[in-house]
Amino acid sequence: MLNFEYKNPTKIIFGKNTIPKLAEELPKDAKILMLYGGGSIKKNGIYDQVKATLKDFDVEEFGGIPANPEYETLMDALKIINEKNIDFLLAVGGGSVIDGTKFLAAAAKYDGESWDILSKPVRILEGKALEFGTVLTLPATGSEMNSGFVVSRRETKEKLASGGPGLFPTFSILDPEVIKSIPKKQLANGVMDAYTHVLEQYMTYPTSATLQDRISESILQTLQEVSQPLLNDDYNYDTAGNFMWCCTMALNGLIQKGVPTDWAVHAIGHELTANFGIDHARTLAVIAPSRYRFAFEDKKEKLAQYGERVWGITEGSVDDRAEKSIKKMEEFFHSLGIDTKLSEYTNDYEGISEKIKNTFTERNMTGIGENKNLTPENVKEIVEMSY
Ligand code: NZQ
Ligand code: ZN
Repeated sequence: MLNFEYKNPTKIIFGKNTIPKLAEELPKDAKILMLYGGGSIKKNGIYDQVKATLKDFDVEEFGGIPANPEYETLMDALKIINEKNIDFLLAVGGGSVIDGTKFLAAAAKYDGESWDILSKPVRILEGKALEFGTVLTLPATGSEMNSGFVVSRRETKEKLASGGPGLFPTFSILDPEVIKSIPKKQLANGVMDAYTHVLEQYMTYPTSATLQDRISESILQTLQEVSQPLLNDDYNYDTAGNFMWCCTMALNGLIQKGVPTDWAVHAIGHELTANFGIDHARTLAVIAPSRYRFAFEDKKEKLAQYGERVWGITEGSVDDRAEKSIKKMEEFFHSLGIDTKLSEYTNDYEGISEKIKNTFTERNMTGIGENKNLTPENVKEIVEMSY
């Protein structure tokens, strides 16, 4: 097992009817900015619940943060933060609203150009961001309990990630009942995103980190178990709760401690969102099978372990089991109603592999993945395998 340090300061408040607990968590004298997305919270009653809880607080609002939070929109929110002397941010939404809020928390206390936080390797340290909390409305990203964020700039077709130990939410409220109003397509995205988060921290090479492997395999199996009831049956609180907690656990830092991680699937997937606007989760389904086939020799031991422990594939050589595991993974993605080929999302993919290769080169991402050996040329090949 590799050496590691682990600190996660986010307080999780999980369960039914927990939104009113906001009143106990927010600083009493703070000037609060409540941030939300395109309006789903106004239709499903979450807005009313939050507003009722905030009635004795000094609160401004900023709505309209789009999916794949947009830099230009966030800069409008930053003006409000500065003009109204906001000192606490409250994100009410999914990954996009929470990520946008993290960017704002950092930008509010950053002296240079705000875009530098994303375009340069700026790591936001503790005490260097505004304090913020979240009410999660869409389980998927794990942003509610981690310190990373991703912001897009449509003008330049960029989608960049940043973060640092100063960007953990102070608290996050996780009420599984918010799931009732989420469209099935978004629920499928949530399963897909969380599943890939686990894969990125697991599908590398064997290590002695037995507990991390077993926790990862448990999250994968639980996501598999809840996915069909979630997508096909009537709303069920326990299914919703298990799904929600899997998403948080998949990316709150725990399973990546002491092990090598990959993250190439996300890095390439972000380029597909930036160029084609494909949902984040679906870009992962397009890239993951090709990424694993491309690095088959490096990853086959772990692929075979995944196949055996998660899908019960015990027959055949390591190579056989590893190949069957990738097929099983693809079948699982299809069972969520998610396509796994780029050509199923766009006809406009000619030249994209070259463009992504160049982007990786320009950003100096010349050796990524767990072995730091995936070159821009390799990335180009992986994208082409995904057509
Ligand atoms: O905008 P509104 O109207 O609220 O609608 C949203 C949005 O259209 C809707 N929604 C959210 N909660 C709902 C609901 N609809 C009905 N009922 C509810 N309770 O769902 C749509 C998608 O929301 P979004 O927040 O964009 O989805 P998600 O949580 O999947 O977040 C995606 C973003 O997170 C980034 C992605 O790249 C993408 O930009 N990620 C963030 C990560 C992190 N911070 O750790 C890691 C991830 O890998 C990912 O990159
Ligand atoms: Zn993701």
